Amino acid sequence: MTESVGSGITIKRILTGIRPTGALHLGHYVGALENWLRLQDQYECFFLIADYQALGDHFHEIDLIRESVREVTLDWLAVGLDPDRSAFVIQSYVPEHAELTMLLSFITPLGMLERNPTLKSELDALPVERRSVGFFNYPMSQVADILLPKAHLVPVGDDQAPHVEMTREIARKFNRMFAEVFPEPDTLIGRIPRLRGTDGSAKMSKSKGNVIALSDDADTVKRKVMSMYTDPTRLRASDPGHVEGNPLFEYHDAFNQDTAQVADFKARYVAGKVGDVEVKKALVEALNRFLAPIRTRRDEYAAKPQLVEDALMEGTRRTRKIAAETMREVRAAMRIDSYTTVWE
Ligand code: TRP
Repeated sequence: MTESVGSGITIKRILTGIRPTGALHLGHYVGALENWLRLQDQYECFFLIADYQALGDHFHEIDLIRESVREVTLDWLAVGLDPDRSAFVIQSYVPEHAELTMLLSFITPLGMLERNPTLKSELDALPVERRSVGFFNYPMSQVADILLPKAHLVPVGDDQAPHVEMTREIARKFNRMFAEVFPEPDTLIGRIPRLRGTDGSAKMSKSKGNVIALSDDADTVKRKVMSMYTDPTRLRASDPGHVEGNPLFEYHDAFNQDTAQVADFKARYVAGKVGDVEVKKALVEALNRFLAPIRTRRDEYAAKPQLVEDALMEGTRRTRKIAAETMREVRAAMRIDSYTTVWE
């Protein structure tokens, strides 16, 4: 199913998003943002700042959410997402997100949430007093996020795949029960689905304090890289080292354009012919080369807060229109839009 845009051109839609709970990092870049950038030209994109969803486990940190709406938007602009082409949307400014979440929740079996592996592990990690009904229901609200603009494709990190799978099931069920309203969206996982943290753990994530942020300055990047975890089995530079599972090389592979240098480091590392410090220094340079233009653009936008606000408001305005249309169709399909017609 495609939507018509402009003069008879059909273009498919993307909906994806991020919760505003901190600045974005290298893991976001290779896991998702890179795909968003690439697909901006081919799809009509909706990039959601999921503040409702952030409340799910950060309801006690509203200041952080407020601050992060700005940080995330700046990060998006800094990496090159273009608010003229793509809609930047604040979730709670389009209340239809909440309405569709509720309506879809009636056709969603409890077991679907109970079995969701991402939700399960996140709930396990949350202290009991922070396990709210709203948090339990967040994959449901994510289903509504995706279906509201009738997205065809959802480019995300791999932990989000179960939510997109759930979206497909709900779309199918709705279409079967009521009327063909929603496309079944596909998932697109990034080049590096899970970038390791600087501490070597399986995932870069703010809560673990093992991130390199897109907004980190050159000195911070240097400090973080120089104290990075590498190969714990290697005590001296002359010991043969391991490249596999070593975040140092994972980052080189992901961000160092000089592939000959990376290949040379790997060969010497395995042979015990290069020290961590040399490999780290080269990584600092590669990362700073990659981040420099991002920092520059970020500073430019940070100095022009009106542009940042305009980006959010314009995208939100565009989305409101589409949201109202979808909700009209949904209510009509469910036959909850015109009760009085049966009174005649
Ligand atoms: N759960 C996503 C994250 O934590 C954010 C998100 C909210 C999202 N709604 C979405 C992602 C819809 C993709 C589609 O980053």
